[in-house]
Amino acid sequence: MTVIRTKRFTLRPIEKTDAPRFAFLCNDLEIARHTARIPHPYTRQDAELFVDQLIAARIKGDEHAFAVCRDHDIIACAGTLQTGERVWEIGYWVGADYRGDGVASEIADAMVQFAIGEMGAEVITAGYFIDNPVSGRVLEKIGFRDTGETVMITSLGRKQPVSSYRLELDVASFSGSRDVVIEA
Ligand SMILES: CC(C)(COP(=O)(O)OP(=O)(O)OC[C@H]1O[C@@H](n2cnc3c(N)ncnc32)[C@H](O)[C@@H]1OP(=O)(O)O)[C@@H](O)C(=O)NCCC(=O)NCCS
Repeated sequence: MTVIRTKRFTLRPIEKTDAPRFAFLCNDLEIARHTARIPHPYTRQDAELFVDQLIAARIKGDEHAFAVCRDHDIIACAGTLQTGERVWEIGYWVGADYRGDGVASEIADAMVQFAIGEMGAEVITAGYFIDNPVSGRVLEKIGFRDTGETVMITSLGRKQPVSSYRLELDVASFSGSRDVVIEA
């Protein structure tokens, strides 16, 4: 199974035993409000279901989610989902205690490198809710550009649809961090 090493973190496949830690980290309104699939409050049962779904998707091959570990503690999550022929979408969240320190920027870059290098992505997309400029900045730094399109996406955390900007990466001109090592 693939392990990705960045300058500071190890991204490894999510395991069933990660559910309690995910339950703790995701029981956070900030994560629930800015993502689609995370309800609030977030229970241990929600986390177990989430982890099971991600393991099934990995086996199927159309979604790869990674636990982002610093030393041995999970501090964040990053993943990529196939949405079309050679088209992959990336996503991420960072635990409350670990924000504002470049974590998202480092792991989003790693996800792009994984999608291109291991999944053969030719188009990489991402999106963020219009009231989440921090995520917009993370994507902009990597080289994602606004497509000019917005879509309504239901956030389970808000229990309502939210307008979301759609972005695309210019894969040809992408140059990721050289610190990323992918061990397939
Ligand atoms: C969004 C999120 C992933 C950012 O994680 P992070 O590790 O703190 O992000 P980073 O430190 O790598 O980068 C944040 C960038 O946004 C900038 N920023 C901070 N507040 C900002 C604001 N209000 N407007 C614009 N940019 C802002 C920071 O300065 C930094 O940019 P810089 O490196 O050029 O200085 C994190 O806040 C999170 O998990 N939020 C909840 C879930 C979520 O939003 N997931 C993304 C869904 S699309």
